[in-house]
Order: sequence, then C-alpha cells, then structure tokens
Amino acid sequence: MVRITYLALSWLLLLALLTIMVTIPTSEANSNVPAVIVFGDSTVDSGNNNMIATVLKSNFRPYGRDFEGGEPTGRFSNGRVPPDFLAEALGVKSSVPAYLDPAYNIEDFATGVCFASAGTGYDNATSHVLNVIPLWKELEFYKEYQVKLREHLGVEKANHIIREALYLMSLGTNDFLENYYIFPTRRAQFTVTQYQDFLLGIAENFIRELYALGARKLSITGLVPMGCLPLERATNIFGDHACNDEYNNVALGFNAKLENLISKLNRELPQLKAISANAYDIVDDIIKRPSTYEV
Ligand SMILES: *[C@@H]1O[C@H](CO)[C@@H](O)[C@H](O)[C@H]1NC(C)=O
Repeated sequence: MVRITYLALSWLLLLALLTIMVTIPTSEANSNVPAVIVFGDSTVDSGNNNMIATVLKSNFRPYGRDFEGGEPTGRFSNGRVPPDFLAEALGVKSSVPAYLDPAYNIEDFATGVCFASAGTGYDNATSHVLNVIPLWKELEFYKEYQVKLREHLGVEKANHIIREALYLMSLGTNDFLENYYIFPTRRAQFTVTQYQDFLLGIAENFIRELYALGARKLSITGLVPMGCLPLERATNIFGDHACNDEYNNVALGFNAKLENLISKLNRELPQLKAISANAYDIVDDIIKRPSTYEV
C-alpha cells in the first residue's frame, strides 16, 4: 500500500538539486541566499509527517541512521535530504527544519523552513490518499510563517529574507504513481496528457501565488524516470522487470511542459528567476551507469 520504494529514492535528487548551483547566477546564489524554503513531497520532507495523522511516516530505523545522532527525523532517507545539502552548500545551515516540528521555532525558521509532506502531490486528491498535507495547505503554512517572521524580525528584515530566499519545489511523482495509475477517479476524468496539464495548471497558480507573496528565486524539480523506480520494475512482470516506458514517457512529457511553463512565467513575472532542476537525466544516468557514482 505505502510505496516506500519511491520514498527511499530521495537522496538521488540531491545531485539534481545541486545542479541548480551552477544555474543560478553565482553572485546572487552564494552571497545572498539568507534562507532555503521548501515545498513538496517525501523527496524533501524533513519531518512534517511526524506531526500529522498519517501512516506515511519515517520515524523509525533504518531511516536516519546516518543523520547526525543517528536518529530518524521523519526524513525519508538514511541521512539528510537534498534541501539540507543545498542549504549547507549555500552556507546557510546544515539542515532545514520541518515547520511542524515543535523542537524548532521562528528563529530557526528565519534561515530555512520546510513545509513539505511525504505522499503529497499537486492534485488535492493525491494528498487525500494517505491523509497528508495538500499543496495548498503548505502555502497556507507559508503565509502563517511570513506573519511570524515579520513579528520576529520586523517587516524590513523579514521582507528581505522572503525576497532573497531560495525556494525549492519537489513533487509530482505521487500524482501519477499513488493516484492516477492506482485509482479510477482521475483516469475517468482525464487522459494522461490532460492530467499533466491539470497538474501544471495547479503548479502555475502556486508559483504565481508564491510570487505575489514575495518569492523571487525558485527551483522546481521535475519528474524522475518514475517507470524505473524499484516497485514499478518489480511489478512489471510481463515486461521482464524492465523500466515501465509508458511511465517514463509521461515523466518526460511532463518535464518538457514544465520547462515551457517556467519560461513563460519568467517572461511574464518580471522579477522571477525560476529554473527547473532536471532530475530525470541525472537519475537516469545513475540507473544506467551506476559504477560511475560509486563512492
Ligand atoms: C484544492 O483544495 C483547496 C481547499 O479546499 C481549494 O481551495 C482548491 O481550489 C483545490 N484545488 C483544486 C485544483 O481543485
């Protein structure tokens, strides 16, 4: 029922997210990112699901065994997740705390905060499957965060952080693998092409809202080769356990449309600097040439 196989993949996205380092103008990225602010699913959740009523949690071993202290934090990883590494590389902090984790407060969140929730997607119906935080609710939490930040630091300093922060979005796979291809509702409403467009319409509204709230620097991670995830291969019985090409093509199609959307938004929203982090090629390369990634 709970597809841990995808959830466990998140470390692979590290490389994808790190590639944005070279894409965002370095003068701005290195000297002027006061905070890393995260939206998305298990690829970037740093513990929010621990605090909500869902079965989709990672608060037990072996999760966290390589995290500082060896504790499972609610990250779907043996250690840190990509935004943590990215925040460290930007000189901000070594891990980005979960907004709902009571061990942290607004002082911690001033340099980075994670609103992500494992199992969520762009589509509200996806978050309903395992009763996790829908994307619209992540944005509501972000609005609440802005209020707290302004109370804590004053309007001017808070607005500086909001404007200069690096915003990360990483989600979408669950919409297909936990929802569209599992339950009949969305398949009855949409062809897969229409469903891609439906999700990207939600993404567009989300980015426009985030921009209206003051965000400027944004990295959006597209879909990985989701047909090659271990569970998809294990269940591809008639295909000799190869990757599911249909799923991979859907991911590629989605990513191409996401690139177009990002170009359009960069043109229409004058101060936006949005990029798409191409996780597909990197994960694909790891699958095809694993020996080149040995450590
Ligand atoms: C998702 O749910 C929220 C809250 O009910 C609603 O405001 C929003 O319009 C919904 N999104 C879509 C695309 O239906």
